[in-house]
Amino acid sequence: METLQSTTLQTRRVLVVDDDQATLRTLGQLLEDAGCETTCVPDAHLACALLAERNYDLVLTDLYLGTDQLGYTVAEAARTRRPQVPVVMLTGRPSFHGAVDALRSSIREIVVKPVDPDVLIEACAKAIETASLERKRRQLEAQNRVLMTVAPRMIEAKDPTTSGHAERVIQYTDRLAERCGVGEEDRESLRMAALLHDVGKIGVPRAILCKEGPLTAAEREVIQAHPQVGYDILADLEDCEDVRLWVVQHHERWDGRGYPHGLRGEEVALPGRILILAEVYDALAEARSYKPAWPLDKISAFFREQAGKHFDPELAHIVADGLDREGRRFFAPRTDLLF
Ligand SMILES: [Fe+2]
Repeated sequence: METLQSTTLQTRRVLVVDDDQATLRTLGQLLEDAGCETTCVPDAHLACALLAERNYDLVLTDLYLGTDQLGYTVAEAARTRRPQVPVVMLTGRPSFHGAVDALRSSIREIVVKPVDPDVLIEACAKAIETASLERKRRQLEAQNRVLMTVAPRMIEAKDPTTSGHAERVIQYTDRLAERCGVGEEDRESLRMAALLHDVGKIGVPRAILCKEGPLTAAEREVIQAHPQVGYDILADLEDCEDVRLWVVQHHERWDGRGYPHGLRGEEVALPGRILILAEVYDALAEARSYKPAWPLDKISAFFREQAGKHFDPELAHIVADGLDREGRRFFAPRTDLLF
């Protein structure tokens, strides 16, 4: 039966370093049996030269190569030349200081001699798996940074009347979510949904987006497609199904008269209902080419009037009361946090 370890190690290129020829052969054979492609070398100098030349998925090295702890030299070469490559260190004399040094370097796992083959294979698989997860995390972070900076600029380039809209909606959405006790994981997805909610406008011709005066039925249909276009654009974003849902739902209404799907009430989850309300708040509170900014008392009266129609009634009342009580500070970031 195929195990997680065997699939993790399959066809992985491993650099094995040990000054004892018999041990080197045994380690190499163990890893080959687990599906790895190994390069076995007996000293640190050769290992460092190979790391400069080519890439590996894992380095497995003894701590003592000869009389010195040259395993650290190999680990250091991996860290500087191949920072993505994890190192598994073999040692006969584990120590606290050694573990601390390991944590500071690229050493992911320490295996104590005499080596139990199962323990060694598990440590190698775990080191590769962890390094791969970290690589994925870094890629996602980079992806997010691109989205966070590029997406709003693209939308604003298409529709200059909404300059700064996405950033303000992030702030309003996040503050309201915090006040409503939404958990940090959902808030993170919600911030991304707030940022990207209008990304589908990229598919709407500028002549329609910036048209002054009433839209024709056909033009309205094109505009009303933008939540679905946004949902489709974000299709390849990994692990972001909630973000996509809240993007496609940002023009839905509590009474089911919104678009594109006419969802009702709690068919849109709380974070999605928060985004709907925050998005409208920004549209009302800011001046647009076709209207001045609404005063806050007019906005809070509107939210009360639309409670149970456009908006989740409870949310609408929380916001209306908050605006009456605190004014614009209701949506301002918290300033009472100590850290
Ligand atoms: Fe929109």
